[in-house]
Amino acid sequence: MSYQNILTQSRKHLAWIGLMCLSSLVLTPKALAVTSPISAGTPEGWWPHFESLITLAVVVAAFTTAWLLNHARPRMRTYGLLLAALCCFGIVAWFVVSLNTGIIDHPKKFQAPMDAWKPTLLWGQVIIAGICGLALLGIAQRESNSEEILDITNENETGRYGRVSRIVHWTTAILFIFMIPTGIFSSMIPEGVWFRSEYNVMHKTIGLIIFGLVVFRLIWNRKSKRPALDASLKPLEKKMAHSAHILLYVLMIAVPVTGYVMTSLHGYPAFFFLIEIPSFLEKGGAYVVWGMFHKYLLQYLVYIVLGAHVIGALKHHLIDKHKDAFKRMVL
Ligand code: HEM
Ligand code: HEM
Repeated sequence: MSYQNILTQSRKHLAWIGLMCLSSLVLTPKALAVTSPISAGTPEGWWPHFESLITLAVVVAAFTTAWLLNHARPRMRTYGLLLAALCCFGIVAWFVVSLNTGIIDHPKKFQAPMDAWKPTLLWGQVIIAGICGLALLGIAQRESNSEEILDITNENETGRYGRVSRIVHWTTAILFIFMIPTGIFSSMIPEGVWFRSEYNVMHKTIGLIIFGLVVFRLIWNRKSKRPALDASLKPLEKKMAHSAHILLYVLMIAVPVTGYVMTSLHGYPAFFFLIEIPSFLEKGGAYVVWGMFHKYLLQYLVYIVLGAHVIGALKHHLIDKHKDAFKRMVL
């Protein structure tokens, strides 16, 4: 079978998968409308440790997407873009299911005035996920016509990032972005609802994985020098891009650390899949202060810095028309 035939066949299969995902978006709320999980106990015959399986699926999906996006062959990069789009639509589907649980309208008692923003924040983030999904489908369509072989090495080069940095950047980015709406939702689940602990296992496990990835990244940066910033940037843009990168490294460490300390001081364990990590800190009231950082201050700082990072990268690509700038990190 020729390369073009394989591509046409794959597109047909992917179109079916897309159609099935969209129909599940429409059908799932109706199917779940029978019982409200807020009041219902754990469904009978529920698969044990399904939270660890879902967590594993999320981590594998993030890594596979990151690997495919930076694959040498354009067909594989197209699959990476389609998988990234599917991840975005997955977030939208998850939100539709979450709406049906009733938790967004009847959340855990508010602890701080900022908590009143949570439903709006979730709506905003999910709309952004939907728009990104559609944009990624458009980019996938364009990439499917490309014949460019991406020739990169594992190590970073002077003008662009190598395979290892690219895969770690995109795996971390997908997981980090996923953690924000799911973290907000999990903090709204009232005590006693059966899937509260399931969400906690997922959130804490992925948080620890992000921390592990950033430690690996810092070690890798010492071994393989990071490329200098793109030469086409103006001096002010260089300063802003550099500051945003440093702040993002700080946030990738500070957010999981404050989450862990807040949890431990509150007397709860952390998790790594099935493994329960006991608290190494004595229980105490200071968890409120660490919670202020994890849940409010750092969360809003993430919106500002990450927003500037993504808007900066898009401006460089779409407005300044430096089409090679994005290619330093992907495709
Ligand atoms: C979908 C959203 C994202 C896009 C489009 C994006 C895009 C990029 C691009 C194009 C670069 C290369 C900049 C250059 O040419 O020097 C980069 C670097 C970087 N990104 Fe992202 N990024 C995203 C999400 C994230 C997230 C969520 C994080 C972390 C929380 C992050 C952290 C970083 C860091 C730390 C660097 C600098 C890498 C280094 O030099 O070591 N990015 N990003
Ligand atoms: C990069 C990693 C992480 C990110 C981006 C993240 C993000 C978030 C966000 C956005 C919230 C919702 C805050 C709110 O609006 O109330 C949250 C809640 C929470 N996070 Fe994290 N988190 C991370 C890592 C961790 C880790 C490692 C732990 C613990 C081991 C943790 C424990 C918690 C807990 C327990 C809550 C819920 C608090 C409540 O029920 O009110 N997080 N996180």
